[in-house]
Amino acid sequence: MKPRYFVAGNWKLNKGAAESATFMKALSGALPAGAARDIDVVIAPPFTSLPAALGPGPKDVSLAAQDVFWEDRGAFTGEVSASMLRELGVRYCIVGHSERRLYFQETDRMVNLKTCALLRNGIRPIVCVGERSDDRRAGTMQSVVKFQLSSALFDVSIKGPDELVIAYEPVWAIGTGNVATPRQAEDMHEIIRRTLEKCFGVDIGSRVRILYGGSVNTDNIGGLVDMDNINGALIGGVSLDLDKFIRIITLISQKE
Ligand code: PGA
Repeated sequence: MKPRYFVAGNWKLNKGAAESATFMKALSGALPAGAARDIDVVIAPPFTSLPAALGPGPKDVSLAAQDVFWEDRGAFTGEVSASMLRELGVRYCIVGHSERRLYFQETDRMVNLKTCALLRNGIRPIVCVGERSDDRRAGTMQSVVKFQLSSALFDVSIKGPDELVIAYEPVWAIGTGNVATPRQAEDMHEIIRRTLEKCFGVDIGSRVRILYGGSVNTDNIGGLVDMDNINGALIGGVSLDLDKFIRIITLISQKE
């Protein structure tokens, strides 16, 4: 049986506090009945919008941060710790997004430290992995993704499959309109699945949710989540549009 579907909206550097509160209120009123009970729905606003998004949101929609620092406290100007996120009521946190790897020189080691800090504080990491177009052209995409994943999960242990989420986001598909085909995505998800089973054993590894991300929209989501190892999506641009985001949730809930 497939694990429960998971849909997360990554707002990136969009929507301040007021706009986030308005969106969450509207989401509360517009979510199809029972959808958020059957699917995990998560929104990741910018840090400063988290408190505003938390209040008016539907009770069964969780919030994610888009990043975290690995130390709990200290002289680290500009950083936010996992314990601070937990205090706000944040349940998930994206780590290792390719934009952070690219623009902020985030390394596999940092992704691992962040993953461990989140788990230590009871926040569920959404660990992003994905190859660049060069890697795909060179045919090295599988080893690149395997390496990113095993580095991120070094020394990580979980007690159950829901404590961790993986997002496969090929860099060439993010924000480009150039979505991976369901087959291309599933091929990589199968590799990720085997790696998870090796790390955590088959019982847990077979049930950790693996999301696809990169130019997901209302037209392509159905074909993607039909694949055995695609358990939902991490959605950027389209998640900023309430109607389209709801449409995606509705389409996935019809797969249940
Ligand atoms: P996109 O972004 O849906 O706009 O391609 C996905 C992501 O970066 O998580």
